[in-house]
Amino acid sequence: MPAPIDTLVTVYGGSGFLGRHVVRALARRGYRIRVGVRRPDLAGHLQPLGRVGQIHAVQANLRYPDSVTAAARDASAIVNLVGILWESGAQTFDAVQTEGAATVARTAAAIGARLVHVSALGADDAATSRYARAKAAGEAAVRAAAADATILRPSVMFGPEDHFTNRFAALARMTPVLPLVGAATRLQPVFAGDVAEAVADAVDGKTRPGAVYELGGPEAMTMREVVEAILRITGRERLLMPLPFALARLKAAFLQFAPGDFKLTPDQVDLLRSDNVVSEAAKAAGLTLEGLGITPDSLEAVTPSYLWRFRKAGQFAQKGA
Ligand SMILES: NC(=O)c1ccc[n+]([C@@H]2O[C@H](COP(=O)([O-])OP(=O)(O)OC[C@H]3O[C@@H](n4cnc5c(N)ncnc54)[C@H](OP(=O)(O)O)[C@@H]3O)[C@@H](O)[C@H]2O)c1
Repeated sequence: MPAPIDTLVTVYGGSGFLGRHVVRALARRGYRIRVGVRRPDLAGHLQPLGRVGQIHAVQANLRYPDSVTAAARDASAIVNLVGILWESGAQTFDAVQTEGAATVARTAAAIGARLVHVSALGADDAATSRYARAKAAGEAAVRAAAADATILRPSVMFGPEDHFTNRFAALARMTPVLPLVGAATRLQPVFAGDVAEAVADAVDGKTRPGAVYELGGPEAMTMREVVEAILRITGRERLLMPLPFALARLKAAFLQFAPGDFKLTPDQVDLLRSDNVVSEAAKAAGLTLEGLGITPDSLEAVTPSYLWRFRKAGQFAQKGA
């Protein structure tokens, strides 16, 4: 590929949580970035991440192939970050994560652009979760259309704008008892900034063509350990109440209609039935962050820098205050 400044990268889903980290990483490496999203008017927060004119948002909806093609014009590399955690109207897992992924891959192949596809750890066509099955079908569609694409599978990501650590910290402010779904399920929380560096490395052409990378943080933790760490960091003591999956699913049948931090869908409960950690096979093959020369930051190192706002006295709170 030509020098970054002459290189246009189209990032579908660039306005989301991981998107802003990816756009920042690509901007730092000097690329020109076109962000393809349904609501470009809501992507203004990306502008300060680059120089004037370096980042440009356009309308693109993965469910409308013509808009995908238009957003890809002249791009040397394409990054697909589009994913949904629950379905809503026409935004179904299949339409967005399977058909949408196929559309992006076919577009990349047609114009000869390098493709980086972000999937998820746990993508499995035999999974109970429909999210995970659609991610697996999306990977297969990407492979069929663009055999050389790099597929990245992150574990659950944290960062200042996440809906993971922020959600538990917010809930702990409101309730003395925290119900835990999948308390014993093992996760490998990974900093979104580290995943973004891996995406940028793949755009640079530093990943193995056609490989699947599994991206996790430095330590595997149970869901209970993650929540305990968040409570420690925010200086709160709460009773943790592990829920059996059957009860959690019943609860989610109602909470799927709840707003904001209370929302929980039955499919999310199903997703928490399986561990979400980097496999030994990926480690042995070097298909990990460490294999790319990235030393991942830990949850305990990064989250205090933004979870302080959930402490009783904010950033000036003393331990136990
Ligand atoms: N967050 C995690 O912990 C995690 C873990 C593993 C894997 N992942 C995967 O990583 C990727 C990024 O996740 P994220 O947390 O950054 O998600 P996010 O914050 O929800 O961002 C999703 C992005 O996709 C765009 N989008 C949604 N539907 C679209 C459509 N039909 N056409 C075009 N753009 C669409 C959204 O913008 P508009 O709504 O404006 O279109 C937004 O920019 C996803 O594939 C996700 O499955 C995330």
